[in-house]
Amino acid sequence: MTGLAPRPFYVTTPIYYINAEPHIGHAYTTMLADAVARSRRLLGDEVFFLTGTDEHGQKVERAAQAAGEGTRQFADRVAASFRRMCGDLRISNDDFIRTTEPRHFRAVEEIWRRVEAAGDLYKGDYEGWYCTTCEVFVPETQRVNGRCPTCGGKVERLKEESYYFRLSKYRQPLLDFYAAHPGFLQPRIRLNEVRTFVEAGLQDLSVSRTSFRWGIPVPGDPAHVMYVWFDALTNYLTALGFGSGDPAADARVGRFWPAVTHLVGKEIIRQHAVYWPAFLMSAGLPPPARIVAHGWWLMGGAKMSKSVGNVARYQDYVRVFGVDALRYFVMREMPLGQDASFSEDGVLARYNADLANDLGNLVSRTMTMIGRYCNGVIPPGGREADDGLDAALAADVDRTVAAAVGAFERLETGVALQEIWALVRSVNQYIVRREPWGLAKDPDRRHLLECTLYQAADAVRVVAALVDPVMPEASARIRGMLGVGAPTWVGLAAGGLEAGGRLGPVEPLFPRIEGTVEDVRAMATDEAPQTPAAPPAPPAGTEAPPATGTLSIDEFMKVELRVAKVLGAERVPRSKKLLKLLVDTGADQRTIVAGIAEAYEPEQLVGRTIVVVANLKPAKLMGIESSGMVLAASEEGGLPALIGVEGTAPGARVR
Ligand code: MSP
Repeated sequence: MTGLAPRPFYVTTPIYYINAEPHIGHAYTTMLADAVARSRRLLGDEVFFLTGTDEHGQKVERAAQAAGEGTRQFADRVAASFRRMCGDLRISNDDFIRTTEPRHFRAVEEIWRRVEAAGDLYKGDYEGWYCTTCEVFVPETQRVNGRCPTCGGKVERLKEESYYFRLSKYRQPLLDFYAAHPGFLQPRIRLNEVRTFVEAGLQDLSVSRTSFRWGIPVPGDPAHVMYVWFDALTNYLTALGFGSGDPAADARVGRFWPAVTHLVGKEIIRQHAVYWPAFLMSAGLPPPARIVAHGWWLMGGAKMSKSVGNVARYQDYVRVFGVDALRYFVMREMPLGQDASFSEDGVLARYNADLANDLGNLVSRTMTMIGRYCNGVIPPGGREADDGLDAALAADVDRTVAAAVGAFERLETGVALQEIWALVRSVNQYIVRREPWGLAKDPDRRHLLECTLYQAADAVRVVAALVDPVMPEASARIRGMLGVGAPTWVGLAAGGLEAGGRLGPVEPLFPRIEGTVEDVRAMATDEAPQTPAAPPAPPAGTEAPPATGTLSIDEFMKVELRVAKVLGAERVPRSKKLLKLLVDTGADQRTIVAGIAEAYEPEQLVGRTIVVVANLKPAKLMGIESSGMVLAASEEGGLPALIGVEGTAPGARVR
């Protein structure tokens, strides 16, 4: 692939209605599109990734009224929450479009004029049913018990003058297009459904409204605003610069259109696979190359949706598990095109099994052993052991690269992750079979020890590169530990790790979360959990049971107490008790979450010398990883007082 000009790759999410703030459903499509965009960048493609907000229409106008706000002010506020979601979820979008922007008005007006010039618009009277939740016209025959067939919501009777688009004219052109482009709509079964719908005959579509104002006025007839879907679908062209009159933008349209992948939920297939190509054909533009429709996240068996009221907030999961774990869960769990259930137990189980146990262990044991047996320097490779394990592992790595990259290209992130995790488990088994800890005791087997650790570290490098689209932060952290730079999938293969490199600081990747689902729920929504299995590092004396029995000196020395200096301190949001401290332990800088917020203001602590337990197993508290515990004394029911040792340098052992 090297040497070839980069292929243009354009990926979009639906633009989201701003009648309410985002939930896991919106977050999912956005994370999926992000993983797709990142995977294409790793393949060397020239990527343009678009997301944004769909701000016009009656639904938004009514939501603003219900909130007692001006429509524009309401739109600005809710649109900002979708933009924030992109930052919160590490979304690498190249643009964020809002349909209330002037550039979008220009593009939509241009499409309207073209469609009008093609003779595809005429004025008539619309009388029928309308679902404001879905912003669709509902034919009499499709109502179910008088309600919308898609969302089950109430439909309203409309009777107003309207422009019509001659959709009926595009029945045959659409069928011809589907026949010529079998990959146009995926999964394929969806194309069959759409074909059946179109074959049955298409009715002309009402594309303007006069009964409300919050929309783009029809050129030359401002009593009408455009139907929100006519306006919304055009966003995909607006962002390329369509309608701006700028030659550079025209070139961009030429480059990225129609090489686009529209990712959508399955409820908006008709708008994307029937209306949109018909509008484009009418405007003299080619239909999009590919529409990929995914299933729904269900909560309690029903589609997660604001109108049902069964939504999960992405923020709660990010707080407890971190962004990468949420991204991993959704991309691992939902088979493309099918529905999947979202639950706290599901996320917790995957976190502990796949991330903490499988991947976390592999990375930690590999790094620790290179630290211990090779002074933190990547040892030389070499595959000459005669048990065949090394060659088999290298072959496994190469096979996994091919399988995972192929799955990402098909947007099957779940399949890609299954492949990668099969490799993670194989490397763990390889380590267990080779027993480097045994080899390390025998100087004659030094070569095999080095070869084993090299192979493990090399496989970890490949795993980090492959998980990068799904877990960009974890990938970067693993690469930081390995001391390797930004990944590429071009030429990714076993054996690419350079020997002699020095490992960076080793840190826990996904500390195990020992709590129950109830603890996790409490962490997400409230203060600390009631019965935390991994408790907030409590100041000594506050919660410890009374001392019983005696310790040997060896037992005591297992607790690594060290002097540390507080470099930074801040309150943990939504917690009365917890402070997040950044401390210098002499050997490293690390974060410790401590239950001392009721006794100390953060500013008082910076620069103070304290004592920490440096070798405590890391734990996640309110979504923050705490690596250690601070020592403090307190009387029964009293506030904690930190133990300090002024005049002692960070790192000094306390004993
Ligand atoms: N504004 C239109 C789309 C216009 S595109 C030109 C719209 N907006 S929406 O806010 O309702 O977002 C719908 C999209 O959000 C779905 O197509 C899907 O991408 C995502 N999801 C919303 N709820 C979802 C689930 N419960 N599960 C999975 N995805 C969901 O429709």
